[in-house]
Amino acid sequence: MLWNHRQGSGCYRMGFQCDVGIATAAPGQFIMVRLKGQKIPMLRRPFSIHQVIKEGTRIKGFEILYKVVGQGTALLADSRAGEGIDVLGPLGRGFALNSEHKTVFFFFFGIGVAPFMFLISRMLEAGFDMSRVAVFLGGRSRNDLLCTEDFKAVGVSLTLTTDDGSRGQRGLVTSPLEAAVKRSRPDMLYACGPVPMLQKVIALSKDYDLACQVSVETVMACGMGACLGCAVEGTTAHQPYRHACVDGPVFDAEDIILR
Ligand SMILES: Cc1cc2nc3c(=O)[nH]c(=O)nc-3n(C[C@H](O)[C@H](O)[C@H](O)COP(=O)(O)OP(=O)(O)OC[C@H]3O[C@@H](n4cnc5c(N)ncnc54)[C@H](O)[C@@H]3O)c2cc1C
Ligand code: FES
Repeated sequence: MLWNHRQGSGCYRMGFQCDVGIATAAPGQFIMVRLKGQKIPMLRRPFSIHQVIKEGTRIKGFEILYKVVGQGTALLADSRAGEGIDVLGPLGRGFALNSEHKTVFFFFFGIGVAPFMFLISRMLEAGFDMSRVAVFLGGRSRNDLLCTEDFKAVGVSLTLTTDDGSRGQRGLVTSPLEAAVKRSRPDMLYACGPVPMLQKVIALSKDYDLACQVSVETVMACGMGACLGCAVEGTTAHQPYRHACVDGPVFDAEDIILR
C-alpha cells in the first residue's frame, strides 16, 4: 500500500502500487480487499477503483476512496503505508462509454461518488467536451460531499444538495436532476448511491426514456460468482436474477429491479 490519507467525514483514500494488473481495468470495476493476515472479518470487502495513479504516461497503481462503516473498513483505516494488503481484482463489469454521447449526466449520493473519477479520466482521454457533462452530487450534510474540487478542476457543471442544507440546495439530489433532464435530455445518465436514490433514478430514466447505467452496492461475500449472495432481481424471465459481482456492479437500468 502506498498511502492511506484521511479525507474527513470518516473517509480515506488508499493508494496501491500495481502496474500490470490495473492496466486493463475499466471504470466501475471493483476490487476485493483485506489486510494481509486479517482473520476477522474473514471476508474481503469490495471497493470501486476510484482512480488510476500515473507517473507521466506510466501506470503506477490505483486508488480507492472508502468510508468507514464497520469492522473491515475500520481495520483498513488503521493501516499504514507499506503494510501488506490482499487485493483481488479488477472484478465485475464496469461502465460502458460511448464516444458519440455529447450530453452526459452523473448522479451520486455520498460515497457513491467513488467510481466516477476513473470514468471521468477516461472521458478526458477520449476527448469528451466536459462542459456538456453535468454532475449532481448529494449528501446528508456538507461533509458528505466528496471530490467537489476534483469535479471543478475538470470543468463539469456541478450541482450540490444536502439533506440539512449545510451546502448547496437543501433536499434530494433527484429534484435538480429531474429539472435538468426536463431542460436538456442527456444521452446517458450514470448513477451510484444507496438503493432508494437509485430507485428514483431508475424511475426517472423510465419516465423520460433515458439511457441509464447504475452501479449497485450489494453486500458481497466472494466477489466472483461463487456464493450467489449478491443477487439482484432481473427484468426478464430469461434472467430472473443477476449477480452484482459478475453481471454488474454496473447494470443498464432497464435490466434490474431494486427493492
Ligand atoms: C461493487 C461495490 C463497490 C463498492 N465500492 C465502495 C467504495 O468505493 N467505497 C466505499 O466506501 N464503499 C464501497 N462499497 C461498500 C463497501 O464494500 C462496504 O461499505 C464495506 O464492505 C463495509 O465493510 P465493513 O466490514 O466495514 O462493514 P460491515 O461490518 O460489513 O457492515 C457495517 C454496516 O455497513 C453495511 N454495509 C456493508 N456492506 C454494504 C454495502 N455494500 N452497501 C451498503 N451497506 C453496506 C452493513 O449492512 C452494516 O450496516 C462497495 C460495495 C460494492 C458491492
Ligand atoms: S459476491 Fe459471491 S456471487 Fe457475487
